[in-house]
Amino acid sequence: MPKGDSLPTVWRRPPHTKAKHDILTRYLGAWFGIFGTSRRHQRVNVLDGFAGPGRYDDDQPGSPVLTLNTLLEHRSFATFGDTLFNFIFNEWDDKRFASLQEVLAGVKASRAPWPNTVQIHERNQNFQSLARELLDSIPADRQLAPTFAFVDPFGYKDVPMSLIRDLVSHPSCELFIYFDFNSVNRFANAGNVDPLLTALFGCDDYKNAPPADQGRAQFIHDLYERQLRNECDFAHVCSFEMINKSGHTGSYLFFCTRDDQAYDKMKEAMWKLAPGGGYRFDDRLAGQQVLFEDEANTGPLQDELAQHFAGRTVPVEEVRQYVIRKTPFHSGQVKVKTLKPMQTAGRISSPNQQRKGTFPDGTLIEFPALDG
Ligand SMILES: C[S@@+](CC[C@H](N)C(=O)[O-])C[C@H]1O[C@@H](n2cnc3c(N)ncnc32)[C@H](O)[C@@H]1O
Repeated sequence: MPKGDSLPTVWRRPPHTKAKHDILTRYLGAWFGIFGTSRRHQRVNVLDGFAGPGRYDDDQPGSPVLTLNTLLEHRSFATFGDTLFNFIFNEWDDKRFASLQEVLAGVKASRAPWPNTVQIHERNQNFQSLARELLDSIPADRQLAPTFAFVDPFGYKDVPMSLIRDLVSHPSCELFIYFDFNSVNRFANAGNVDPLLTALFGCDDYKNAPPADQGRAQFIHDLYERQLRNECDFAHVCSFEMINKSGHTGSYLFFCTRDDQAYDKMKEAMWKLAPGGGYRFDDRLAGQQVLFEDEANTGPLQDELAQHFAGRTVPVEEVRQYVIRKTPFHSGQVKVKTLKPMQTAGRISSPNQQRKGTFPDGTLIEFPALDG
């Protein structure tokens, strides 16, 4: 019997899992590209703390295979030189771990000779003990290499905020974590699992969650986000909502980082899955959502920029930085999708632009003062 859930060793992949994997691989494609070509870092880590059995019952790959493939099939992999990519795949359940080992052996065999810059560590532990062990192995005066921590449990039990905080305390650590909204929503005021919820949030404010018609869902989401931001000292946190077949929010994926570029890349990955900008995936619409590709409505962003920069002339780089840090939009949406229509509509001008509608670095953008 698996530890803590009623699913078989390998299970059917629901549509939102595919969405999660798409976000994961799109983001990691960018992340590997950045670190593979960076001369500053000799080594990076990917920790998949709840790795699963490596495949689903229809033989679709699980997260370990997907992350490895994203690196090995990266179009720039040949140029990554001797940067060491260190993967830790951890699965607690014995049968799922055996399945994971078999799947990973297949991946290695199919890609012989295996590149010596890609190391795989297979672990069969409770995530909590693994995380403590990893932390204890870092000498007090050393920083952990840049680390992407993927924390993908089934529920809410083995991911206490205090452990997450310690795990990601090193500056270049990023976190992509599953939040079991459905359970918190059910139990926040029930009193029967309070010690677990207090550990999950790192506080007991969840007990103040209001009723559904008074903003309960937003309260729970915002509390977890606030705790990730404050407890773990992350500059940026964004989330992606997973709506289940019955039309209710099942979970959120939270991404947390201290780096502007990483935040930008993750927002871009999430937008790809929800092109309307809603940061959500609905199982009931699986397969149809792609129809709306490229429909980003930048109207709200245009209004916000007009308001924020009103009466000022600023370089386009400053506009881009604002968009990355302070809005749900990403940098790829700034020039053609936002500034160009603003210029056409007469909402901005530029004193040094070479060609109308183009905004290379150094272009100054003039935002008129707003009336009133
Ligand atoms: C949601 S699944 C992982 C799916 C996988 N990340 C993927 O995307 O393909 C969660 C996995 O965590 C395992 N698990 C449950 N509790 C655990 C714990 N405390 N430590 C490590 N693994 C655990 C379960 O057996 C299950 O395989």
